[in-house]
Amino acid sequence: MAENWTPSSWRLKPIQQVPDYPDLAALAATEERLSKFPPLVFAGEARRLKASLASVAEGNGFLLQGGDCAESFVEHGADTIRDFFRAFLQMAVVLTFGAQQPVVKVGRIAGQFAKPRSSGIEKQGDVTLPSYRGDIINGIEFTEEARVPSPERQIMAYRQSAATLNLLRAFAMGGYANLENVHQWMLGFVKDSPQAERYRKLADRISETMDFMKAIGISAENHPGLRETDFFTSHEALLLGYEQALTRVDSTSGDWYATSGHMIWIGDRTRQPDHAHIEYCRGIKNPLGLKCGPSLTSDGLLELIDLLNSANEAGRLTLICRFGHDKVADNLPKLIRAVEREGKKVVWSCDPMHGNTITLNNYKTRPFERILSEVESFFQIHRAEGTHPGGIHVEMTGNDVTECTGGARALSGDDLADRYHTHCDPRLNADQALELAFLLAERMKGGRDEKRMVVNG
Ligand code: PEP
Ligand code: CO
Repeated sequence: MAENWTPSSWRLKPIQQVPDYPDLAALAATEERLSKFPPLVFAGEARRLKASLASVAEGNGFLLQGGDCAESFVEHGADTIRDFFRAFLQMAVVLTFGAQQPVVKVGRIAGQFAKPRSSGIEKQGDVTLPSYRGDIINGIEFTEEARVPSPERQIMAYRQSAATLNLLRAFAMGGYANLENVHQWMLGFVKDSPQAERYRKLADRISETMDFMKAIGISAENHPGLRETDFFTSHEALLLGYEQALTRVDSTSGDWYATSGHMIWIGDRTRQPDHAHIEYCRGIKNPLGLKCGPSLTSDGLLELIDLLNSANEAGRLTLICRFGHDKVADNLPKLIRAVEREGKKVVWSCDPMHGNTITLNNYKTRPFERILSEVESFFQIHRAEGTHPGGIHVEMTGNDVTECTGGARALSGDDLADRYHTHCDPRLNADQALELAFLLAERMKGGRDEKRMVVNG
């Protein structure tokens, strides 16, 4: 076990991004209640994810991580979850085909509620109120009442996470993810989607392959891998009182696990090495993500790697790089070189969302071409350094929202007002998410062909 660590040792450290709960006794009572609730995920599942990520760290496999910036209470519903899962599965299939490698599927879902904010206050006209910090903390409405942090929201977030996870497990294991359904996943697709034809062609190829395999005796009936999929959950471990309440000892190993989600990550604003969020995360055994933004130095990164993964265990740590399309070339190579020089085992993932946010017509948005440009640079840099571009981390939804500009439908600044539903940052809609997957798959295929040429050359 990590030295001098307990699930509550973070409370003795300086901490950022703490909500101002007016009633601390009520908060403590809620945390006490939560600590008796069943775990949402199991240690064995987190270990299985870690093993899959270990393969990615070793260069075999690709991590697809995505979902809402912030889950919300109002958007909770069976259709939203199904549409997300379907869009996510489609992306995964496209990437599997492109990379010819297993795709590790991790949703930003069933727990992604708490949000770090650049300012503790929000001003509208001459009214100043506390910022919205995610539905698990306060309400998004711009009223004094809604913005007061309420502990009861943690119970609601827990219950929503449990219900969401229950449906996701059913989808993943109960037949929906069966590869024989690869055409059905299209049904929700608007007919004129620019991606529909491309996807149909890919689905035809998969169906043909499945028919061939069936003819030689391999089918979904006798191969669970064809009818089920591993799907994992993740969120930012920001609200540490909630995380602590769901931190449990695994009876088989005696180790501590966060049972709020399979993988948790540390945000770019809360990664100070001597502060509370790093303290909490270093002691739990789940796979961890660490957001790496432009302010992170090579030495700073190595210090964090030692704190979070002192045993240098492959699969334990995923570095989620979010520099911005114009900063990635200045920042990523030096971090890769430092990690390589020290022989640290990590998964390199690219979050092309958080460094590419701009304001247009008073909406926060992200131009699709900048998102794509950051991903492309990420791939090129890894290719040049001889390291494995191990994954992407995106904010996306299965719905037809208008939050990011660009893409094959060329959404413009004027379209943003149509269906701008996000509770926090702008997400790729289902079309844009699938388009990104196709473009990525092409890059990966290019990389494979190049490698083959070097080997054969
Ligand atoms: C996020 O992932 O929603 C987020 C706030 O990211 P970051 O910590 O990288 O800014
Ligand atoms: Co976000």
